[in-house]
Amino acid sequence: MLALLADYEGKIDLIYIDPPFLTGNAYHARIGRGEDSRRPEDWETTPGYQDTWETGAEYLEMLYRRLELMYRLLSPTGSLYLHLDWHASAYARVMLDEIFGPERLLNEIVWVYHGPSPIKSAFNRKHDTILLYTKSKDYTFNADDVRVPYKDSTLKTFASSPKAGFGKKPNLKRGKVPEDWWYFPVVARLHSERTGYPTQKPEAMLERVIRASTNPGDLVADFFVGSGTTVNVAANLSRRWLACDASPLALSTTYRRLLLNEQACEIQLWKDLNLGIEDQLQLQVELHDGPDEWGIELKAAYSLEDPPIEFPDDVTLWEVDWDHDGAEFRSSQQAVRDWRDGDLGLRLTRSQFDKKPDQIAIRLFDNRGRFGHKVVRFTSG
Ligand SMILES: C[S@@+](CC[C@H](N)C(=O)[O-])C[C@H]1O[C@@H](n2cnc3c(N)ncnc32)[C@H](O)[C@@H]1O
Repeated sequence: MLALLADYEGKIDLIYIDPPFLTGNAYHARIGRGEDSRRPEDWETTPGYQDTWETGAEYLEMLYRRLELMYRLLSPTGSLYLHLDWHASAYARVMLDEIFGPERLLNEIVWVYHGPSPIKSAFNRKHDTILLYTKSKDYTFNADDVRVPYKDSTLKTFASSPKAGFGKKPNLKRGKVPEDWWYFPVVARLHSERTGYPTQKPEAMLERVIRASTNPGDLVADFFVGSGTTVNVAANLSRRWLACDASPLALSTTYRRLLLNEQACEIQLWKDLNLGIEDQLQLQVELHDGPDEWGIELKAAYSLEDPPIEFPDDVTLWEVDWDHDGAEFRSSQQAVRDWRDGDLGLRLTRSQFDKKPDQIAIRLFDNRGRFGHKVVRFTSG
């Protein structure tokens, strides 16, 4: 966010964040074929992200510093949605009151959901709290874009007695602006949206957030993007977007999701072909240099650390920069594995170049968020 200030201060129209909640837990992503099973012993997992802190104060400090930057990045008509639960939302609200001013709290939204819970000594904790603040009094809120139908019982009541209700008869056809409590089912096992990344939020909820608080072409950001829900929905709704996460698995999951969603996406972040860390995978490729067509075949991948990579089953996506400039990886073609049992193409081809490139770069990701790359250089002639 500090790096973005130079170009984006006052330019982001909507920030939605769903950061760690101060739960004290470590979260794992489910990978591999057993992910759909009901039995935990069938699941293959890999670390997703940590929500563990020495003290609550350390957590709040982390959040406060970031919220201050988000305030600066927001446009004068922008909105911030901070998604938390009972662990920290009361403290976060006090911090946001300080940063935005208490009068800028537009809504305290409660997201309610169902799900199994082992708790027997208290009521089951099945809601999250989303704090919605606006930067100024002049903010975007598209009430007509988020209307929902009235319940059948309401329609029946008005059909039998047009004078029902407290005031004047509502416009039943147009539907109503949703209340500040929302029900959306969680992204459960077997849900078609499911990526396996932990604590993934439902697309329908993000759709409501984005439609209400932005217009097409506006800029949406999520600085704790996880599996990429916010930016996928933003792309589907023709909004521009910015995504950030501290976890390489989150970034590769987001990228994979965008590619499967057929949203063109260039990752320019990885300027040096890596994430500022060393490659954890090595790959072996074969180049086919035919008269009409060039092909790259992925032959093998090895991990430089445990656990070993199973080739090709653990490869989630690989891609080619057919005209690599030696500095920035520009992905021109990708092979992506679908979330469930998808096959991955092991050959990427393109027709002959006008001019033979000096070098080609290949990059590959596995289901643990590890990556590796290779540059194939051609000698002149
Ligand atoms: C609750 S998850 C987000 C889930 C997301 N909303 C979704 O639908 O998939 C929180 C995310 O915050 C990330 N995270 C934790 N600390 C971070 C930090 N300091 N900066 C950026 N991301 C961070 C974690 O890696 C994790 O992906």
